[in-house]
Amino acid sequence: MDLTMSSVFLLLLPIWTALVSAGVDDMWDGLNIKFGKHRPLPKRKEDAEKENYKRQNDICRTDNYHGFLYRLEDDSKLLPIYDLNGYLSGIQAIIPSDMKGYNSFNESIELPPHEIMPPVLVGKSDIQTYTITAYFKHPQLLCSPTYLSNVPTGKGLYIQTGYDPIKHHEQIPLEAKNLSSLWKKALCLTTMGTHYFYNVSRDMQCERLYPVFLMYDSEGQLAAFGWSFQGEPYEGPNSIVSWYQIRPETFYFIFDVNQLPPCMLNPNFRVFGVHIWLQNHNKTNMRCNPPSTPAPQPRTTVTYKEPHSGSGAGPNEDKLGFEQSDKDQIVKNRRSDNIQPPLSNKKSGTNSAVPNSLNKCLFLFVFVLRTILSQFSVQNV
Ligand SMILES: *[C@@H]1O[C@H](CO)[C@@H](O)[C@H](O)[C@H]1NC(C)=O
Ligand SMILES: *[C@@H]1O[C@H](CO)[C@@H](O)[C@H](O)[C@H]1NC(C)=O
Ligand SMILES: *[C@@H]1O[C@H](CO)[C@@H](O)[C@H](O)[C@H]1NC(C)=O
Ligand SMILES: *[C@@H]1O[C@H](CO)[C@@H](O)[C@H](O)[C@H]1NC(C)=O
Repeated sequence: MDLTMSSVFLLLLPIWTALVSAGVDDMWDGLNIKFGKHRPLPKRKEDAEKENYKRQNDICRTDNYHGFLYRLEDDSKLLPIYDLNGYLSGIQAIIPSDMKGYNSFNESIELPPHEIMPPVLVGKSDIQTYTITAYFKHPQLLCSPTYLSNVPTGKGLYIQTGYDPIKHHEQIPLEAKNLSSLWKKALCLTTMGTHYFYNVSRDMQCERLYPVFLMYDSEGQLAAFGWSFQGEPYEGPNSIVSWYQIRPETFYFIFDVNQLPPCMLNPNFRVFGVHIWLQNHNKTNMRCNPPSTPAPQPRTTVTYKEPHSGSGAGPNEDKLGFEQSDKDQIVKNRRSDNIQPPLSNKKSGTNSAVPNSLNKCLFLFVFVLRTILSQFSVQNV
């Protein structure tokens, strides 16, 4: 009996593999995250296992998500999910729960606020665990071999919005023009794209700061996405991946501050999160504006905490200087349209009458960050 079963299986395997591999080219080309420097998420579960990621579940459909969740040591920020065939198909973050934040009246509240659940979900078996999950293909395709013959594209983005991802998810448009008007356009950041935040406004209640934001490239194609949560999580000395951490003075790192409500300007308000790239970050259409001036004097500091372990980085190197020379110019530029045409081969600066110092600053920041961090590279284990 077993023998027959396994020979049938062995016969089917090549067909199965052929069908599945037809879908590989359809995967997002970028799919990477920043562990100090950009590095790709393992595209296959075998690669993840080689990199010491450990599988967290044995059954494809769990009470909280679908697919096989993998975790690298104690990292709780970027847990890849593989489908039944071992292809990278999603990503989950576990959100720290022992934090306090603020509501729209500047009153202290427990985080994460229930207003953002979903898409933040409380663990069904462990009520202390808060997660948020995105899939790169329709959640129906994660655990269903019956869909094999119709090999799915891996180029999608679906945010899980309930315990059954097949029924409860939000499909993110691949083109910016198809976004609902509730997604508010914010800044363009080189290597990241133009940011969109859900229903942010002057009237937004701070407890409703939506945990998902999107980034589209200069051609309006979905390029990346990120998580944004209120709070200031503790980073253990051994954390491999770091959250970006911003405060009111540094919100312009990702937000258009003119769109933010007063409660977010409460000096104690904190936001943290992480970016996940779907497209290659260094494509031309991921640029906003060419850089052309040398670094001005440092004025403020953005904390983008980075790994301590194995990096040799001293504590002072956590803080990376962010250059800002002309606040007024920055405010002015925030009001301008931030979508820029892709870079041509022409030398920059010859045709741009008004220099966009914000973009330059941000580019410099990202550039400096990448240069510095490339020296802290996390060892591949
Ligand atoms: C996106 O919008 C265009 C019109 O602007 C429409 O033709 C197209 O069907 C939309 N795509 C989706 C997936 O809704
Ligand atoms: C959008 O934000 C406004 C102002 O905070 C709020 O009244 C409205 O209910 C929100 N809409 C949705 C769909 O979240
Ligand atoms: C909350 O704090 C901010 C910044 O300090 C202030 O502008 C705002 O008016 C405060 N909101 C309330 C409701 O007190
Ligand atoms: C973009 O980055 C990838 C790796 O992150 C690298 O292999 C590639 O050569 C880079 N391309 C350019 C044009 O810099």
